[in-house]
Amino acid sequence: MESRAAILWEQNAEWSVEDITLDDPKAGEVMVELAASGMCHSDEHLVTGDMVLDPEIAKMIGLEQFPVIGGHEGAGTVVEVGPGVTDLAVGDHVALGFIPACGRCPSCARGWQHLCDLGAFLLAGRQITDLTARHHAKDGTDLGTMCCLGTFSPVTVVSEASCIKLTDDIPLDKAALVGCGVTTGWGAAVNAANVQPGETVVVVGIGGVGANALQGAAYAGARHVIAVDPVEFKREQAPIFGATHTASSFEEAQALVGELTWGANADKVIITTGQVTGDMIAPAMSLLAKGGRCVVVSVADIKANDVQLNLFELTLQRKELVGCIFGNANPRRDIPRLLRLYMEGQLKLDELVTREYDLDGVNQGYQDMRDGKNIRGVIKY
Ligand SMILES: NC(=O)c1ccc[n+]([C@@H]2O[C@H](COP(=O)([O-])OP(=O)(O)OC[C@H]3O[C@@H](n4cnc5c(N)ncnc54)[C@H](O)[C@@H]3O)[C@@H](O)[C@H]2O)c1
Ligand SMILES: [Zn+2]
Ligand SMILES: [Zn+2]
Repeated sequence: MESRAAILWEQNAEWSVEDITLDDPKAGEVMVELAASGMCHSDEHLVTGDMVLDPEIAKMIGLEQFPVIGGHEGAGTVVEVGPGVTDLAVGDHVALGFIPACGRCPSCARGWQHLCDLGAFLLAGRQITDLTARHHAKDGTDLGTMCCLGTFSPVTVVSEASCIKLTDDIPLDKAALVGCGVTTGWGAAVNAANVQPGETVVVVGIGGVGANALQGAAYAGARHVIAVDPVEFKREQAPIFGATHTASSFEEAQALVGELTWGANADKVIITTGQVTGDMIAPAMSLLAKGGRCVVVSVADIKANDVQLNLFELTLQRKELVGCIFGNANPRRDIPRLLRLYMEGQLKLDELVTREYDLDGVNQGYQDMRDGKNIRGVIKY
């Protein structure tokens, strides 16, 4: 079948919107007609090279990262089902999880679907099912798909392990956001930071992920929710998602947190900046109280190894520094739960979408993200 998709042919290029050909789904796969795709910052890491493997290493282990169809925040309707798919049928509504969940590997079995072993194939650029491509450029070149999804195309073929079945009442364009940013941000606060009633929480970086960390922290009962972002528009938006205070820098946040807690400092700090760099860790850890926890959600340059961290403080003030992927969530349980909260008015999804674009607007959308104009930009099909 014919479609159109936004393709990244190489690092540092623009997204190129082109005609593509899609094969029918093979065993264990489904074809999904998408309603929308969120424009997460993680696709930008492909452009900048933060998430790009050294070409020599990639070649050695058989990975083909480029060309790749972008997009990993989508939801839509199943339009075709491959052989052996028993849990999904044509017409089913699904959200696509940016990490597949097989349900059988050791991580899935212990309730850590965000660490499913199939995640190893996310940057492989081929279908998880048999490591071949279903997406092809006009000239026949095989195309990879970001996170094995490729939601910058109105129709795509994915593994059933990436699909989370939804009830038909849920608006699919909003469900798209829960496939990455919402679950990631919310789960960073609720699961990874384990925010408790009465705590003081700082969220650094208020984009599509950070706004949901604010929502999760507020919902979990935090007393102070401090949103840190240098962009004024982000600080203006933050209270909509539960921020009680805002600051424009780590320094400003340090002064504010000191004042609010009478010098005790924050219980939790969550880093959701567009990119995390080693020099952010020391100021983030300094915002923490004794026994506090700093959760790193942002993606760093894959080659970055240097971190500033006061080890004396880490040990003697029993501080914690932890990573977090997909909000430490179990998508098959958590995505439907979050969407029920939305349907009942307790989770804000409409407010996350600052601007909508058509597929041809993908480069404008990412420019607006870089310019700090969007909480989340969304491509509507
Ligand atoms: N760990 C995961 O599972 C996971 C999942 C999704 C996204 N991510 C990553 O999370 C990060 C955030 O994604 P997003 O889509 O929300 O990005 P975004 O670009 O929408 O938002 C990032 C925000 O950080 C702000 N910012 C930049 N530098 C800052 C600084 N020094 N101090 C405070 N704020 C600063 C920007 O102004 C912007 O508002 C990205 O690195 C993304 O790749 C991780
Ligand atoms: Zn994402
Ligand atoms: Zn698994």
